[in-house]
Amino acid sequence: MSKPGSSPAKLRLSQSLRFAIEAGNILARPSQNLGEFVVGAEIVELLRLVDSQGGSQGLCRELRKNLEAALSHIPSEQELPHLLKDLEEAGVLLTAGRRGSGPVGAGTDRFADSWIQWAMLADSCRVERYAEAIRAKAPHHKHALDLGAGSGILSFLLLQAGLPRVSAIEESGAAAQLKKTVRRALNSCGQDLLTQKLEVHASNSANVSLSPKADLIVSELFGHDPFSEGMIGCLRDAQKRLGKEAACIPHSVTVHGSFAKIANPQLKSRLKQWHEARQPHGQKKASSPSVATALSLFRQAYGKSQDWDTLSFPFSLRAGEFSLVGESKALFRAALSPVPPPRKLRSSPPTRLKPPSDMDWTAAGLTPAGDVICFLVWFEAELSEGVSISSLPGHAHHCHHWEPLVLPLVSSPEKGKLLSVESGLDDTECHLHIEIREGSRVLAAR
Ligand SMILES: C[S@@+](CC[C@H](N)C(=O)[O-])C[C@H]1O[C@@H](n2cnc3c(N)ncnc32)[C@H](O)[C@@H]1O
Repeated sequence: MSKPGSSPAKLRLSQSLRFAIEAGNILARPSQNLGEFVVGAEIVELLRLVDSQGGSQGLCRELRKNLEAALSHIPSEQELPHLLKDLEEAGVLLTAGRRGSGPVGAGTDRFADSWIQWAMLADSCRVERYAEAIRAKAPHHKHALDLGAGSGILSFLLLQAGLPRVSAIEESGAAAQLKKTVRRALNSCGQDLLTQKLEVHASNSANVSLSPKADLIVSELFGHDPFSEGMIGCLRDAQKRLGKEAACIPHSVTVHGSFAKIANPQLKSRLKQWHEARQPHGQKKASSPSVATALSLFRQAYGKSQDWDTLSFPFSLRAGEFSLVGESKALFRAALSPVPPPRKLRSSPPTRLKPPSDMDWTAAGLTPAGDVICFLVWFEAELSEGVSISSLPGHAHHCHHWEPLVLPLVSSPEKGKLLSVESGLDDTECHLHIEIREGSRVLAAR
C-alpha cells in the first residue's frame, strides 16, 4: 500500500463496484465475493470524482465545490413531489404495495415495443422448442415462474401444459397486455383460467417476492452474446429467492467457435475494406485524389484513430452465406440449473484449436484467392434433455431471432501451429470475453 501523503497515485474505480441502497444505507460492493460496506453521500461523490479525473490531486477542493453546489440544488417542498414522481416513472422508485406498472417514462423500455416482442413470437423454432421443453417438464411441477415474460407466450405454454399456477414477471410496458393476451389465447384453445392461476408482476424480478415459491423457472433472456441481457444475474437471484431448488428451463448454454469463410457480399466487403485499411503499407498519399481514393484514405485515417483490436459484432447471416473452416470447438459452458457462483464463470480452461490447415494469407483475415476469413461465435442452449436451440444458421434447431458474433482477425494463424482460445464472463456477467492466441500473439478478441 502506498503511504498517504507520498506522490499522488493514479487511481481508478474497480469495474466490479456496485452500489445498493438497503435499509436506508448506501452499500458499496467491490465485488460479489468481497462483502460490502456502508458509504455516505460524500464518499459516493468522491468515487465519482476519482472515476472522472483518474487521480487524487485537487480532490478535496473539487469535492467541497460539488457538494456545496449539490446543497443549492436540494428541491423545495413544492418541487419534491415532482422529483419523486419522475424517479418513479424512470423505474428507480416503486410504489409500495403495488405489483408495479413497469417503468412508464423510461426512455429505454425497448421490450415494450410490440415489434420487438413480435420478432420473438415469429421465430417458430424458438417458441416450438420452448413448447417442447415445457411439455416435457410441466407434469412434474405445480408453480412456474415465467421470468421476463414479455408477450406472455411462455406463461401461455405453461398454462396450456396444465401448470396449476404461473407467476409472470415482466418489467417493460409489455406487462400491461400480458394477462389479457394469455386469457384470450387460452380461450381460443378451449381453455379458461377457472382452475389455474396466472399472476402478473409488472416489475423487475429483483423487486418481486413469491409466496409460495416456484418449483419451475422458465426464462428466455438470451442475447446474440447469450449473456448480454443479464440472464446470469437474474437467474441466480431468482433461484435464490423466488424458487429455491426449482428446476430451470433452460438448463445450460454452451458457446462455440470456428474460423469461417464469409460469402455474404455486404459482410465480405465490410471486412475486406477494414482489413485493407489496417494494412501498414495501405497508407498512401495522393494529391487531387479521385472520390474513391479520397474515401479510401478517409477510411484509413478513421481506422487509425479507433481501438479496433477487440472488434466483434452480431451479423445476420443465412446458411450458405458462410462456411466453417477447420475445427469447431465448444469454448465455454455455463450451467444454468443452478447458476454457479461468479468465480466459476470468469474463465473456462483454454481450448486448443487447430487453425485451418490449407490456408494461405496475404494479410490478416485475407487469402490470395480473395476470401475473407473471420472467427465466428455462436451459442447452443439446452432447454431440457434433448431439446436445444442454436444461434448458428444451418443448424437443425437454429432460431433466426439470434445472430452469430463475428470476430475479425487482427492477425493470421501460422500453418500447423496450435492456437489457444480463452473465454469467460467479465465482472458484470453480461459480456462474453474471448481471446484467440498463438503464443502471445492475439488473432482475434472481444
Ligand atoms: C428475450 S425477451 C423474452 C420474452 C418472452 N419470455 C418470450 O419468450 O417471448 C426477455 C423479456 O424479459 C424482460 N426482462 C428481462 N430481465 C428482466 C427482469 N430481471 N425482470 C423482469 N423482466 C425482465 C424484458 O423486458 C423482455 O420482455
